[in-house]
Amino acid sequence: MPFQHICITGGLGFIGSHLVRLALTRWPGVRVTNLDLITYAGNEANLADCCGRPEYRFVRGDVRKPADALAALDGCDAVIHLAAESHVDRSILASDDFMTTNILGTHVMLEAARKVGVRRFLYVSTDEVYGSLPEPLAADEQYPLRPRSPYAASKTAADLLVQTYVTTHDFPALITRSSNNFGPYQYPEKLIPLFVTNLLEGRKVPLYGDGLNVRDWIYVTDHCEALAVVLERGRVGEVYNLGGGRGRTNREICDRLLAGLGKGESSIEYVADRPGHDRRYALNCDKIGRELGWQPTHSFEQALTATIEWYRTRRDWWEPIKSGAYKAYYEQQYGSRAKRSS
Ligand code: NAD
Ligand code: DAU
Repeated sequence: MPFQHICITGGLGFIGSHLVRLALTRWPGVRVTNLDLITYAGNEANLADCCGRPEYRFVRGDVRKPADALAALDGCDAVIHLAAESHVDRSILASDDFMTTNILGTHVMLEAARKVGVRRFLYVSTDEVYGSLPEPLAADEQYPLRPRSPYAASKTAADLLVQTYVTTHDFPALITRSSNNFGPYQYPEKLIPLFVTNLLEGRKVPLYGDGLNVRDWIYVTDHCEALAVVLERGRVGEVYNLGGGRGRTNREICDRLLAGLGKGESSIEYVADRPGHDRRYALNCDKIGRELGWQPTHSFEQALTATIEWYRTRRDWWEPIKSGAYKAYYEQQYGSRAKRSS
């Protein structure tokens, strides 16, 4: 491994916690600093198994604050920047934190990383930068950026900002744009963990619109492997798409979850659609396969079964999350939506 000390931002979130775990096992002897604010989405329980490791250091801090960024980057020679507000629906309810954390926070991390002189800076972007694609198109890395939600716009702004640092400052940045992740430790506001935990609670699942929006799903550990490969061997200044390989409608995902949990169609509640709901995401991931030899190794079906099983056995993880402030969010997000659909 050509790096000695990696800073991972957002390492107490869903993808970040899997990435910290992967880094500690894939790169023995490499130090890992996790910079995380512990927002509603950050959870120390996600890394309970790593917190005693001597190579692991946690810094509670805000990527929007230069002093926090510099403190975390002390001694680091690489950065993987994931910290963000990540939920599209919340960006529709209130977008302030999306603009400050996702855009300004990325600027602060870039400036701090330049000062420290890191050798690589990997920005974790998203396929949402391409917007909604008509059949049969699949976006490659040259496809125009057409974000359509406040979340997607904030990620696109940061993605472009990172690119300007490469051209203007000769800064050693790389970008990945991933499709929808799923797996253990995903906060139960996103489709799969929300539906699984609702079904485990004996509740209905709120399917938006006609349920025929299409997403490409990737298992979270496949995503993290790809991030590791891009950090190790990606070409500086390049963008790499990564995804699971094929699109599925939300109704298909829903039907698989119902079957996996022994529930029927009566558990579906069709609710009012997400405003501006992107109809279809589709990625062409040939470049990362061709240049770096990466491809996902998990079958979607097996990974989904494992994910359902994880939530079935880890009520201790998600039940505390679904109490308290989550209930107010749920009511705000879904209370009027369900009524409007009837
Ligand atoms: P998440 O919401 O589960 O976790 C985000 C983490 O960032 C949390 O631990 C939170 O505490 C931390 N954070 C938020 N604001 C912060 C701040 N100001 N300073 C420091 N830490 C802060 O998110 P996720 O789903 O794991 O996504 C991680 C990254 O991957 C995001 O950049 C997201 O845009 C990107 N991404 C996610 C997906 C997906 O399907 N989840 C797909 C593609 C790209
Ligand atoms: O595509 C990558 C993006 O995937 C990431 O950049 C985002 O961080 C991540 O949150 C995710 O965004 P989506 O909006 O696609 O994910 P979400 O799980 O919120 O929704 C997936 C699909 O399911 C979407 O078409 C909306 C629908 N949906 C979602 C929820 C929460 C429902 O039908 N009902 C719901 O209750």
